[in-house]
This record gives sequence, C-alpha cells and structure tokens, in this order.
Amino acid sequence: MGTDAGGTRSPSDHWDGRYRDTGSARVSWFTPDMSTSVGLLHRAGTSPTTSVVDVGGGTSVLVDRLVAEGTADVTVVDVSGVALDEARRRLAARAPDNRVVWVHADVLDWTPGRTWDLWHDRAVFHFLTQPDDVARYVDLAARCVAVGGHLVVGTFSEDGPPTCSGLPVSRYSTAALASVFARAFDLVHAADEDHLTPSGTFQHFSWVLLRRRPDEGRPATVSGGTSPGEE
Ligand SMILES: C[S@@+](CC[C@H](N)C(=O)[O-])C[C@H]1O[C@@H](n2cnc3c(N)ncnc32)[C@H](O)[C@@H]1O
Repeated sequence: MGTDAGGTRSPSDHWDGRYRDTGSARVSWFTPDMSTSVGLLHRAGTSPTTSVVDVGGGTSVLVDRLVAEGTADVTVVDVSGVALDEARRRLAARAPDNRVVWVHADVLDWTPGRTWDLWHDRAVFHFLTQPDDVARYVDLAARCVAVGGHLVVGTFSEDGPPTCSGLPVSRYSTAALASVFARAFDLVHAADEDHLTPSGTFQHFSWVLLRRRPDEGRPATVSGGTSPGEE
C-alpha cells in the first residue's frame, strides 16, 4: 500500500511507519500490562469460554493475557501488518499452541461473518472523526457483539490530547461515549484513567463497559460470562 491520489499516506503505511520508526515499547500508547482493559474485561465476567475480539490491538499484550488465562477464542484486528507480525511472533514464542486469529484489515472495511462475546477497543475508535465513520463503526459493533455480550472502549477524554500519532482524534466524556453506542448498548460501568506514556506525560482516557441490548426477535447468543459488579 502506498499513497492515495492526494499524496497522503494510507492508514496502513502510517501505522506501519509508527511501529517501525518508534518501536512498540516507545509509542505513546504503550502500556506494559493493559491493566485498565484487563480490569474491565474481568468486570464483564470474562472466562476462558468468552470469545474476544481486540479491535486495533496493534502490539498490545492484551492478547497474551487472554491466552495465558486460557481464553480459547481470540481475534486481533489491525490495519498495521507490522504490528500484527510483531504481536504474532511474540505470542508464538510464549504460547506456541495459541489459536489466535490475526486479521489485517481496516475496521471500517471489515465484514466478519460472526459475533463475539466481548469487543475491546483501546485508543482506536477515537480516530474516527467523521460522523459517517462513527456510524459505520457503531453498526459494526452492534452486529458483531452477541446479545448480552460486552463492548469495552477507551478513548482520549475531553481534556486529553487533541491528536494521537499525528492524527486528529475525537475526545469523549464517559457519558458522551456511552451515548454514541446507546442505540444498541447499555452502560454497565464507566471509568477514567491517567495513562503514563513512555516519555513520562499523562494522557487522560475515558472508558466504558457496555452491554449489548437484545433486539426484538434476535435470540441471546452469548456463550459465557455474566456481569458482576454492575453499576
Ligand atoms: C493508538 S494505537 C492502540 C493500539 C492498541 N489498542 C493498544 O492499546 O496498544 C491504535 C491502533 O489502531 C490501529 N488502527 C488505527 N486505525 C485503524 C483502523 N481503521 N482499522 C484497524 N486498525 C486501526 C493502529 O494500527 C494501531 O495499532
């Protein structure tokens, strides 16, 4: 993939370049343990039978944590092949028998033919700044999360940085984030996070844990997990 007609780098090239040039442990979003995500997944009641998709997972270690906890059905989607290759190699060294499915795709062009019990997105949704793209993402999440399943989304908060990785972002309060997905999801829990970047600055995040509401006529298909500690 190269440049588009206007000479702009493609998303794939942009993100491949970020991982290649900066290194996965130096990028601003790096976190060694994904502790906020892991806490929210546990709050959602995930178990080894919960199917999980990490959208824009990049080189994050969430997949390692899930595999270590025995989660059998894990999918990682990302537009950067460089990031996916690094994550795949790292995990293969730690857990050679893992059955993680790696999908190299732009989430807005992705048409998975299945549902998951849990959809996780850390710092990806906020790159969608056009209303049509936001609507497309919400529709996709509504189609792909099983009824009774969960959506965990973290974005820069209203007082977070206006850009990330040189790209503009949309910033959300937890209430605004929940309302974007309210057509199909109910709020279970909201949280704030101060993320410490590798360069020593803080980025304020808004997080929501949402549950897929039943549609009329759509049967519950979630395969595992309950929602302990709902607020
Ligand atoms: C800020 S990073 C966050 C990575 C990871 N979620 C984490 O917490 O470490 C954003 C990630 O989303 C990916 N990404 C950006 N836009 C995307 C899109 N439209 N479709 C799929 N992946 C995308 C990038 O390649 C990158 O890995």
